[in-house]
Amino acid sequence: MTTPTPVLTVNGIEVIYNHVILVLKGVSLQLAEGQIAAILGGNGAGKTTTLRAISNLLKGERGEVTKGSIELRGERIENLTPADLVKRGVVQVMEGRHCFAHLTIEENLLTGAYTRKDKGEIAANLEKVYTYFPRLKTRRTSQAAYTSGGEQQMCAIGRALMANPSVVLLDEPSMGLAPQIVEEVFEIVKDLNQKEKVSFLIAEQNTNMALRYANYGYIMESGRIVMDGAAEDLRNNEDVKEFYLGMGGAERKSFKEVKSYKRRKRWLA
Ligand SMILES: Nc1ncnc2c1ncn2[C@@H]1O[C@H](COP(=O)(O)OP(=O)(O)O)[C@@H](O)[C@H]1O
Ligand SMILES: [Mg+2]
Repeated sequence: MTTPTPVLTVNGIEVIYNHVILVLKGVSLQLAEGQIAAILGGNGAGKTTTLRAISNLLKGERGEVTKGSIELRGERIENLTPADLVKRGVVQVMEGRHCFAHLTIEENLLTGAYTRKDKGEIAANLEKVYTYFPRLKTRRTSQAAYTSGGEQQMCAIGRALMANPSVVLLDEPSMGLAPQIVEEVFEIVKDLNQKEKVSFLIAEQNTNMALRYANYGYIMESGRIVMDGAAEDLRNNEDVKEFYLGMGGAERKSFKEVKSYKRRKRWLA
């Protein structure tokens, strides 16, 4: 079996905030062309920082990449501006659904086309977004503030799609949504991945849902990738099941602890 070419490659990046706080301690990962990869891990693990490093959105947070490299189809991109990255097809959907509350759904979607000029193409793109998100079409004239959490998440993804991206960095799409709505959002992501060939890198605390839709997963803890593998292998991994899929017994502080605990048990057996 051949390994698909990586569209994104992150090589050993370190990120510090405020010149001192080291939060990413050498993170490496890849997103294969046309696939869905997930970065999993609890609150504060470094998922958002990783996505922001890729989309060059750390500056506003007083963060910077101090080591390592990031490549888009083999080309270094650390020095490109977020707008350059959007033009090259890389867009980020922020954590917490950043829709403009006072704009309508359609106005929000149109703000996503800011790097594009051709009106005909923009209109066609809007129609395409509506075919994937029929709920947004129904709500197109509603002010975003008066739509549901699910509709706002869809609006945030739809807005990113208005830039016609090939890579979408999706930060915690499940946050604050009912399980049924999370599933609806992930189904649309799957559809976009399969039909539009959009590659997705998704940061998620909802391991269970993410591993159902992703091809590959990276588990992150305290600024490091502590485990990675095909989604199916991770889903069947005893340590992952115990710590992240809630199938284990005792409460533990860290995934690393579970791993060493298991190892010890194996040695003693
Ligand atoms: N702007 C910031 N300034 C300083 N520290 C930050 C900032 N943003 C995040 N951090 C810290 O970096 C670590 C990783 O955060 P984050 O990437 O947001 O994790 P996650 O998305 O996995 O919850 C956390 O310890 C967090 O407190
Ligand atoms: Mg986050």
